[in-house]
Amino acid sequence: MNSLQQKYASHKALHFTESVIREMSRVAAKHNAINLAQGFPDFPAPQDIKEAAVKAIMKDHNQYAITWGAKALREAIAFKYQRDYQITLEPEQQITVCCGSTEGMISSLLATVNPGDEVIVFEPFYENYGPDVILCGATPKYVQLQPPEFSFDPDELKAAFSDKTRAIIINTPNNPTGKVFNKAELQLIADLCIKHDALAITDEIYEHIIYDAAKHIPLYSLPGMAQRTITINSISKTFSVTGWRIGFVIASPEITQSIRKVHDFLTVGAAAPLQDAAAYALRLGADYYEHLADFYGQRRDYMLKELKQAGFACLQPGGAYYIMADNQQMGWDNDVEFAKHLAVNIGVAVVPGSSFYREGAKDKHRFVRFCFCKEFTTLEAAVERLKKL
Ligand SMILES: Cc1ncc(COP(=O)(O)O)c(C=O)c1O
Repeated sequence: MNSLQQKYASHKALHFTESVIREMSRVAAKHNAINLAQGFPDFPAPQDIKEAAVKAIMKDHNQYAITWGAKALREAIAFKYQRDYQITLEPEQQITVCCGSTEGMISSLLATVNPGDEVIVFEPFYENYGPDVILCGATPKYVQLQPPEFSFDPDELKAAFSDKTRAIIINTPNNPTGKVFNKAELQLIADLCIKHDALAITDEIYEHIIYDAAKHIPLYSLPGMAQRTITINSISKTFSVTGWRIGFVIASPEITQSIRKVHDFLTVGAAAPLQDAAAYALRLGADYYEHLADFYGQRRDYMLKELKQAGFACLQPGGAYYIMADNQQMGWDNDVEFAKHLAVNIGVAVVPGSSFYREGAKDKHRFVRFCFCKEFTTLEAAVERLKKL
């Protein structure tokens, strides 16, 4: 950063760097590398969902929707949560549609967290959470997800809670580790939230990208948690439309009031015609989700097999569409150097794992993250290039 950049930056903006994930997409383009870095599909979105969006535009749904979301979309969200999880939601009071779950997360944090509060974050973490907490003037407290299983030590979690804890952020299924939090882990988190009167903010964007016997359990559904859980979700990953920027937040009516205020002044609202298409998508039947899990399951199995063949040690993800691969096994101590080598000399872009860890974390430089939400032809081409390693 040069001195002018420094001069005009706020204290908060000085406290975090630009997104490494998004940067790696630019690096991939520059070096003509296959982009297995940023988590977006390279295949078409479902035809009927695109047609629903086109229809909404042609019907002239082109002006601002209600700031907290088109009624049809909020009703479709309530319908889906009732059908899939037997969770009853009041669309008029408990659902806020945002510009992606990205906006859902920062709006929720700004609406509920005060400067000086502590927010517990599992590490490695999806890289937005660090800057989000800093933008609130709060302090992140990290709890390790320890490789190879990415499990956490219950005592470490208990010790992280204090009278300063305002919230804990949970992401399940998890990016970058692929961990799916099980019932016992979620129950412990719930018990601690209740004991310390803390909020649970759960990012459940990969709820339907889940493998084998793993089961997604919304924390909201655990006894005593509906009042203190803020559930963040989005259609980005489930319907392969990451560029549409339609997400939503579910919370109690009381918490929703604050979130809606912040959301309104941050963005006014998400794209109106795309909200109509999202309402259509969320009413699709269970077969859509079964197909999705199977589609990604095949890609997970293929990439795991090939990465292991290439010499990487990696854990089988239970959900989401990423694999954390150990670069130390490949003779590289530094993930950033290794990711650079992969992009420039091998022609495959990945995300250096350090972007999911704070400064000084034990495993900061140990991993690179491969994403596999791509056509088989893309993955096969990447595997071919990795043979040069
Ligand atoms: C865990 C997690 N949360 C949120 C997002 C961003 O979601 P959205 O497109 O809904 O803003 C991502 C994108 O990769 C993610 O992995």
